[in-house]
Amino acid sequence: MTKLIAGNWKMNGSLAANTALLHALSEGLTEKPPCDIAVCVPAVYIAQIQLLKSTVAPLTAVEIGAQDVSAQSGGAFTGEVSARMLHELGCRYVIVGHSERRQYHGETDALVAEKAKAALGAGITPIVCVGETLAEREAGHTQEVVKRQLAAVVHANGHCISEIVVAYEPVWAIGTGKTASPEEAQAVHAVLRAQLKAATDQFLRIKVLYGGSMNAANAATLLAQPDIDGGLIGGASLKATDFLTIIAAARI
Ligand code: PGA
Repeated sequence: MTKLIAGNWKMNGSLAANTALLHALSEGLTEKPPCDIAVCVPAVYIAQIQLLKSTVAPLTAVEIGAQDVSAQSGGAFTGEVSARMLHELGCRYVIVGHSERRQYHGETDALVAEKAKAALGAGITPIVCVGETLAEREAGHTQEVVKRQLAAVVHANGHCISEIVVAYEPVWAIGTGKTASPEEAQAVHAVLRAQLKAATDQFLRIKVLYGGSMNAANAATLLAQPDIDGGLIGGASLKATDFLTIIAAARI
């Protein structure tokens, strides 16, 4: 299947830096890139990226994603952004359940599942993040943790589950420079794929991305694994040359 390379800018960027980054990206992109591409940007910059996309031709291939969404559809929820609002601004994807949101904002499996549901209801593809901490891995609980996290989303979304993207992001690999080895990542991806297969006969539509210190040097070997359908890239997505190298590696 066509791979997806999604950048997760996290809380980085500025009007000037975003323009520079997207112009640099556009120089290395053709209108028909080798894979699907997205940038998941801070919500306040979505409109800026939308405008850049409409003025710089090679950027038409770059889809826009948000990094979070409210589980609520609207109303008295100060500070929240709804899925409908993101859709109106041209978002194709939204990350839900990133470990930083689970860790720093207390997001539970049930809330993440509701957020995925809100996104799907508005026509946005949720990129559902799952992953174990170092302590959980060392205790031998990796499979149990990722299966529990994904099961909540499967349970809440029924047959719509075929419209999600999953991202396996071992927490110990995020922003640490420590990457899961291709074999370690593949083993977890195979478990997630089997779980999706049991949930829907449309499972082959569902991309399972790897995230956690994926970079220009290690992307090709990770992306060559049979069950790794792309990457969710943090740090390396902020450098145009690195992000372009990862995109090129997704041609495999
Ligand atoms: P990283 O972040 O590539 O900087 O490790 C990945 C992520 O958190 O999505």
